[in-house]
Formats: sequence, C-alpha cells, structure tokens
Amino acid sequence: MSSEREPLISSVEDETVQRDSRTLRNRALVWSVLVVVVIFVAVVALVDPSFVSDIGLSGKLPRDPKLAAQRVLDIAPVIDGHIDLPIVARFGWRNNVTDIPLDSQMPMHVDIPRLREGKVGGFFWSVFVSCANPEDEGTDFLKATWRVRDTLEQIDVAKGLISKYPDDFAYAVSTSGIKSAIRDHKIASILGVEGAHQLGNSIAVLRQYYELGVRYVTLTHSCHNAFADSCGMLIPSAPRHYGLSPLGFRLVEEMNRLGMLVDLSHTSDMTATQALLHSKAPVIWSHSSARAIHDVARNVPDEVLSLVGFGDGQRDAVVMVNFNGPFVAADGEADIEAVADHVEHIAKVAGVKHVGIGSDYDGIQVTPKGLEDVSKYPALIAELYQRGWSKQDLAGLTGGNFLRVFEGAEKVAKELQAAGTLPKYDIYDKREDLPIYREL
Ligand SMILES: *[C@@H]1O[C@H](CO)[C@@H](O)[C@H](O)[C@H]1NC(C)=O
Ligand SMILES: [Zn+2]
Repeated sequence: MSSEREPLISSVEDETVQRDSRTLRNRALVWSVLVVVVIFVAVVALVDPSFVSDIGLSGKLPRDPKLAAQRVLDIAPVIDGHIDLPIVARFGWRNNVTDIPLDSQMPMHVDIPRLREGKVGGFFWSVFVSCANPEDEGTDFLKATWRVRDTLEQIDVAKGLISKYPDDFAYAVSTSGIKSAIRDHKIASILGVEGAHQLGNSIAVLRQYYELGVRYVTLTHSCHNAFADSCGMLIPSAPRHYGLSPLGFRLVEEMNRLGMLVDLSHTSDMTATQALLHSKAPVIWSHSSARAIHDVARNVPDEVLSLVGFGDGQRDAVVMVNFNGPFVAADGEADIEAVADHVEHIAKVAGVKHVGIGSDYDGIQVTPKGLEDVSKYPALIAELYQRGWSKQDLAGLTGGNFLRVFEGAEKVAKELQAAGTLPKYDIYDKREDLPIYREL
C-alpha cells in the first residue's frame, strides 16, 4: 500500500528526483562514453603509435613558419637516410668509443645536442668505408683488401656509440623499432652499408651484414664493383656492366628476400633503372637530389624519377634529398631555398609521397647556407611550409614516406620467406678460390 500512496503524496518532489536522476544517468552515460573513447585511443596508440601522429595531423598549423615547423616535427620527427658519423669516429678518434664526446660539441655536423635541437627522430648510421685503390683491388676486384674488416669495425663503432648513450639513441632494425624509439623520445639508430664494394664480392657477406643489423646496402659507392656500375661523382663514369651484373641481379633478389633495403644512391642511371624494375620491394635513394635542378651525375634524373610511384610499371620508392653543396647548386649558391627546390622537384616528378631527407651530414665538406648541421632541419620545413606544403606532406617528407617504403620492403621479405624462396648461393664468376671438385 505504502508504495502506491507515496508517489501520490510526493508527486512534485518525485518529478524533480526523477529529472535529477535522468540528468545523472545522462551524465554517467556521457562520461562512460568519454572514458571508453580515451581508453580506446590509448590502447590503439600503444599498439600503433602512428595513429597518434594521424590525430596530431588533423589540427591546424600556426601561421608562423618556425612554429609550424616545430609542430610538424613534434608529430613527425626527421628520419635522415644517411649520416656519416661513424667515419668521423674512425678518422677523428680511431674508433675509441670511450673517448668520443657525442654529448658535447663535435667537430663536424652531428652531436646529440644538435640532433635534439633539429628534432631528429632517427637516422641511418652509414658504416661506410671508401672504395679500394683500383691497383690494390685489381681490375676484377679480386685482390684482398681490408674492406670487410673495416666495415665490421664501423658496425662496431656505430653500435658502441649507440649503446654509450642509451637515453638518446635506440638501436633499431625494423619500422616497429623506429616507431617505438620515437615514441620513447629517442633517436632511432639504424645501420646502412654504403656500397657493395664492402661485400667482398659475396652474397654470403650480405646475409651476415643483415644478421648484424644492417638494413640497407647502397649498390655502389663511387667505384664500380662486382655487382653494379656506379655513377661516379660529378661526371658519369664509363660503364662496366651496363647496369647490374648477373650477380648484381641475384644480390637484389637476396636483398628482397632478407628485407635489406636496396639503396640506389651513387649508382649509375642504368643500375638504378634495372634495380628499380627488378626489385620486388620498394627501394630508396638514401642521399640523392634532383639532376634537373643541378646537373651532376650523383643526382637522380627525371627519367628515373618517373619510374617511381604507385602506378603500372612504377615502383614505390623514396628519394631522400642530399644536402652536399656541390650536388645542390653551383659553387657558393647552395642554400635552404636550393635544397627546397630539389625537394619540390622530386615531389613534382616522382610524387610528394616519394621524397625524404638524406642530408649526408658528416660526410660532406660544403653545407648549404642555413642548413649547416643537424640542428637546422626545422629551417627547411619552415621554408617548405611557406611555399604552401601541407602538414601531411611535410610529415611524409620528414619520415612518413621512408617508413612506408621500409614497411613495404619488410612485407615483401615476409612474403618471399613464407613462399619458401631459397637464399642465393651464386658465387662471383671471376673467383678462383672455389674450384669445383667434381670427383667429391
Ligand atoms: C680511449 O679513450 C679513453 C678515454 O679518453 C682512454 O682512457 C683510453 O686510453 C683510450 N684508449 C686508447 C686505446 O687510446
Ligand atoms: Zn655517399
């Protein structure tokens, strides 16, 4: 009875109570939806940090180019395709890792304070050693030199320096490693071998470099090798193989199977064209600019750029622009604007999703005005922002395009391995140290 009567007595009060409880229920609903959304975003962000960058990319950039550049780089820090710090360690400190003060002012273009100022999220440490003297090596590259030893020493010094500064560097061998380094506010540190002359003519050495963590091999430096022709430096070298040698094709296939990026910087136009068309995986130019902007052999010509893309007969790739003064412009004319011209030309011919940054810092003598060292990347981003580049396109340039290409190569390797593709055991045909004992 009382339950029937009470509502009648307190009808007015009851209505307020009901209204209040409805409001409360609505509020609770709104809050729980919000909590679920926040948890969802946090979980997705943990699984895939690029999701956060995508969210970050939706807001509007400040009008001031300097502020805008900082905003872009906070979301999408620079991943530089080519930095020669290990060669500075070799010739400046005889590779004494203990002695090398990366946390204070270094003599060339790279140290930790300037990397931080430049908003660098990762870079390839080039474990470069120079081409041998042609006379030392012989015309068929067969005489023993110390290139493989020296490469191992450069891998060693790079790894030593990376682990000497664990708060700043994070050794990485994959796109997920690079992303998690960036998420942890560290500088992802990946290794690249700058020339197949460092392979001792051997695909087995390639496999072992992969095991040691190397994730790209440039097919040549400025010398031809058993696998491929180089472009030379400023003026083209006379060809030897007319592109890739038969062993060079096998090398590209093995790189695809391993997930070792094929780097076409330093290669001749014929090498680049053949490798790009032969590779099943996306390829990179770790540090090359545009020949149409400045006509030197080391820059990529439009005929090759037009093979880059997502269309039929094209290959996904990223051309990471080199800052070396003599590649950027005529004597004394290299500056931020000239570098931006290279970026825009590659974006125009190959597509905006196919351009990146590969400064070559620590490996060059002349830097552009305004891009003197690794602290200056934001100035380039600001310049491009002023020219009307969108946040998305800038984030692709700084690192997104490279990550897509590397992910593509990882995927191809996974597929080839899943399909049971066998390793390549081809031996350089000029070698005489491995005779065939048919009687065995
Ligand atoms: C390497 O550098 C450390 C620190 O300066 C020094 O104590 C050590 O003697 C050096 N080692 C060599 C072999 O020079
Ligand atoms: Zn180089």
